[in-house]
Amino acid sequence: MPGVLSSVLSPRAAGALREALTRARYSTDGVRALLGPSAHAALGRGELEPAHRAARDGGELGVLVRLLLLGAVEPDAAVRAALAPLDPAEVPDLLRPAEGGWVAVLDLRPYGDDDGDWWVLSDLDARRQEREHVTGVGGASLTLAAATDRRPAGSLLDLGTGCGVQALHASRHAAAVTATDVAPRALAMARATFALNGLDVELLEGPWLEPVAGRRFDRIVSNPPFVPGPARVDYVYRDSGRAGDDALAALVADLPAHLAPGGVAQLLGSWLHVKGEDWPDRVRSWLPAPTDEGGVDAWIVQREVADPALHVGTWQRDAGLDVSSPAARAQAGAWLDWLEGAGVEAVGFGHLVLRRTGGEPTVVVEDLLGDVPDPLGPEVGGWLDRVDWLRAHAADDALLGARLAVAGGVVLESWSEPGEEGWTAAGSAVARLDGPRWRHEVDAPAAALLAGCRGQLPLRELLELLSFAHDRPVDALVTATLPAVRELVRHGLLVPAG
Ligand SMILES: C[S@@+](CC[C@H](N)C(=O)[O-])C[C@H]1O[C@@H](n2cnc3c(N)ncnc32)[C@H](O)[C@@H]1O
Repeated sequence: MPGVLSSVLSPRAAGALREALTRARYSTDGVRALLGPSAHAALGRGELEPAHRAARDGGELGVLVRLLLLGAVEPDAAVRAALAPLDPAEVPDLLRPAEGGWVAVLDLRPYGDDDGDWWVLSDLDARRQEREHVTGVGGASLTLAAATDRRPAGSLLDLGTGCGVQALHASRHAAAVTATDVAPRALAMARATFALNGLDVELLEGPWLEPVAGRRFDRIVSNPPFVPGPARVDYVYRDSGRAGDDALAALVADLPAHLAPGGVAQLLGSWLHVKGEDWPDRVRSWLPAPTDEGGVDAWIVQREVADPALHVGTWQRDAGLDVSSPAARAQAGAWLDWLEGAGVEAVGFGHLVLRRTGGEPTVVVEDLLGDVPDPLGPEVGGWLDRVDWLRAHAADDALLGARLAVAGGVVLESWSEPGEEGWTAAGSAVARLDGPRWRHEVDAPAAALLAGCRGQLPLRELLELLSFAHDRPVDALVTATLPAVRELVRHGLLVPAG
């Protein structure tokens, strides 16, 4: 039974294990090279046999792959040789004697980004149905990591660190990293992960923001237990213990007080779509009201929407349940009853970006559904900068005096419909081919205006030229165009020149 771990790795054991893993090339590249693309891809799909075969003659690395990645019992002598100078008996939370050899009781795997590798300790997937299960690097972890703004920061808080994955990423761009978790088992795992990677991370135990009362950070990241359901905890990694999206609402309300001026929080979350209620209004209502110190810029991006049945089924499968089993059906019944009773028609999932600002806050709640191939992190940084720029050009006169250019990678699409005379022009849109692929329909004068946005003439002069060419009063053009220009800047289709 997973429970509290004393200390997965002593400092000495962490050093010895690091030495052994490095020597054997137990890294993302090393493992990929040993397994080859086919077995590696199969392993990613949870199919172990091809990897077993590929690791058969893999020397020390093969032993480590079978022991740590594939759950095999490996002979005593082979394990001792592969792990030297670590004695496997020194790490009873990680390795247990079994059938004359050793078996891993935790998951220990290499994980990396463009700048290199770490090793991450977590619970074995086979134990996913334990209440205290500490998840490894999963889909949601990767989603948040890819969406995090990685510009250098001073202090960073990772709330609900689990195995420590967000803090590992943070160690690349933040000078000081603090990680918290409510679960002692998760903290023990994160402590071992950080020790193994030789990282100095402050670890604090406690719920939500309690462990950092009175402290402020330049950045906060959190992949909290955000899955809406009844007020109960089946799995600590998934369930907040509060009904519906109440825990996320409280976090959004409380987080900004822990941000330094200009500080940014990024979290994942889920919100309810309640019958008769507008979901953006619901999420907006969670933001703290502006005070004398300023307010909170917020960019809330809905990435997925699931109906109640899909929501429940998805999370039951994620927990490894057989959804047709009597126990899972009973759980689904109670969950669906709760959602129905709360008037929930759907559940949204997405990103929340919050920035403490001294100026007039900007709050944008929008959909970005479907696949987005590029990581969102650079886009988040871009959004924050563009919102600052728009705030500095909030007055129409300031915007009219700006020189704007159509961003690289933006195209004009036009489409036609069949008619009596053949194809007839039916509309146009400008679209980004990178980042979130934002797309805006434009009419002929707007397309003409954008054609002129080459960073040379101020917007006012372009509108005067347009007024002349289209025989429309310039005031009317200004009124019709400026809101759209602001949207195009916010979505990165138009960029300030110079
Ligand atoms: C979805 S997991 C995320 C783990 C990791 N940060 C990641 O990105 O993969 C949520 C984490 O929040 C922790 N947690 C659950 N309830 C919490 C609470 N009330 N306060 C702080 N952490 C909590 C869980 O123990 C778990 O480690």
